[in-house]
Amino acid sequence: MATNRTFTMIKPDAVANGHIGAILNDIIAGGFKIVAMKYIQLTAESAGNFYAVHKERPFYADLVSFMTSGPIVAAILEKDNAVEDFRTLIGATDPKKAEEGTIRNKYAESIEANAVHGSDSDENAEIEGNFYFSQFERF
Ligand code: PPS
Repeated sequence: MATNRTFTMIKPDAVANGHIGAILNDIIAGGFKIVAMKYIQLTAESAGNFYAVHKERPFYADLVSFMTSGPIVAAILEKDNAVEDFRTLIGATDPKKAEEGTIRNKYAESIEANAVHGSDSDENAEIEGNFYFSQFERF
């Protein structure tokens, strides 16, 4: 059965372009409740660990460098069927392929600077949320 939480980051491009408020509005309008949130800048070590699953992919170094280029917003979101519904709300990884009206369609610049991250499974949502938030930082 699908769990009811997912993990997201508003990435450095969307923060730098002033889209935090609009993206949070879209997330809330999409029926998600924010149960944890922080505004931080990742270190190379923390971004490298977060994306370790992509270590062998050719874009890994660029992705780590991009994700440490400025502050991000990290959050845990709650809704029935959260992982799948959030990936629908944000659209495809490549904004050129993201459906009209999705967050990446509206705010992303490229496959790398793609505005937001969304967990790809319930298991990863749990791991990623735990990576950023202690039990005292989520509600
Ligand atoms: S996904 O969401 O896991 O299905 O997407 P995937 O294609 O596997 O990409 C994983 C993350 O890597 C980023 N990405 C890239 N960064 C830089 N250059 C290239 N070419 C590239 N391709 C993919 C992509 O934005 C995904 O980041 P997250 O934070 O997981 O959404």
